[in-house]
Amino acid sequence: QCVLAGKWTNDLGSNMTINPMSSKCNFDGSYNTSVSDTSNKITESPLVGSQNCTNQPWPVFGFTVNWDFADSVSVFTGQCFVDEEGKEILKTTWLQRLHVDSIKDDWKATRVGFNNFTRLLSKE
Ligand code: BTN
Repeated sequence: QCVLAGKWTNDLGSNMTINPMSSKCNFDGSYNTSVSDTSNKITESPLVGSQNCTNQPWPVFGFTVNWDFADSVSVFTGQCFVDEEGKEILKTTWLQRLHVDSIKDDWKATRVGFNNFTRLLSKE
């Protein structure tokens, strides 16, 4: 059984916290990226998302990160799996929309990539 709530880290070293899901399968949280396209100081940014509500043990989900320190937005979609060792993994695909000054630059304004997240074991 996969539960999205908690702290996660990805293959880039970014960390995120997902808060417990609402009764309608919506959630919010925060995202601390390890990398940025900008030279701005990275700050923790809010995320909002939802999990598919049909009662699957390995649910699919999506969330949006609205970057506080950059004029871009990223959306992630993925599925939670439990591997053979019982370790939870979130397999995600993301799209990042960058701001461009002109419609002529629209063609280069979207990036796509993949991130795997594993649960961050709390040291608290
Ligand atoms: C920006 O530089 O415009 C904002 C930060 C973007 C970070 C991206 S989102 C997809 C990828 N996965 C991460 O954890 N960080 C980068």
